Amino acid sequence: MTQLLVVETSPRGDASISRNMTRRFVAQWQAAHPGGRIVNRDLVETNLAFVTAPWLQAYFTPPEQHSSAMKEALALSDELIAEVLAADQIVIATPVYNYNVPALLKAWVDHIVRKGMTLGFDGKGLVTGKKATVLLASGGIYTEGSPIRDRDIATQYLKLILGVIGITDVTIVAGGGAKAVDLGEATMDGFVGNLDPDLKQAATAGGS
Ligand SMILES: Cc1cc2nc3c(=O)[nH]c(=O)nc-3n(C[C@H](O)[C@H](O)[C@H](O)COP(=O)(O)O)c2cc1C
Repeated sequence: MTQLLVVETSPRGDASISRNMTRRFVAQWQAAHPGGRIVNRDLVETNLAFVTAPWLQAYFTPPEQHSSAMKEALALSDELIAEVLAADQIVIATPVYNYNVPALLKAWVDHIVRKGMTLGFDGKGLVTGKKATVLLASGGIYTEGSPIRDRDIATQYLKLILGVIGITDVTIVAGGGAKAVDLGEATMDGFVGNLDPDLKQAATAGGS
């Protein structure tokens, strides 16, 4: 059964542009993958810790020597990695905060990039054969031709880190200029509806 992992990061609930992009993406994905399974990982609802000394100690201790405290320290990381490995396709929906991804999403990255699990000891990514889509909502517009194109750090970062773990088939759907919705200059449906062709293309490419 085809499996989609949905990673959400916006704290804004229904007012979130990236979450509204996700809804449309998921609807298209379900239509294209009847019987497909969806796993939701909402980072706002996940008790994500930043990297700590006990976490690092556990990480750098061979698994067969793990104490129960070390197992506990890595439990969430193990769970998040299992979700990534079980997925055929991953969609990450995120705001742009201060030109990069929100801290919650960076924390997720720090949990899922682990040597021996998602990254080989030879430096090659182990998460191969998967497709990822990034749904970005940003107040500004960073696409080709924009005078602030060089500030598109979030896209570059996510492409880089997904590539590091082996996911090179990455599609970006950029919801740039999203502040129009917050300012009341565009409706949510109108703004996100304009992205429908790109969302459909990303959700249906590759068949079931
Ligand atoms: C703390 C904060 C920082 C932001 N920084 C940027 C930024 O650097 N560049 C930008 O284009 N938009 C920025 N924005 C605007 C958000 O990207 C925009 O509101 C987006 O719609 C948020 O995603 P969401 O609607 O899914 O919550 C920022 C918003 C907040 C709240």
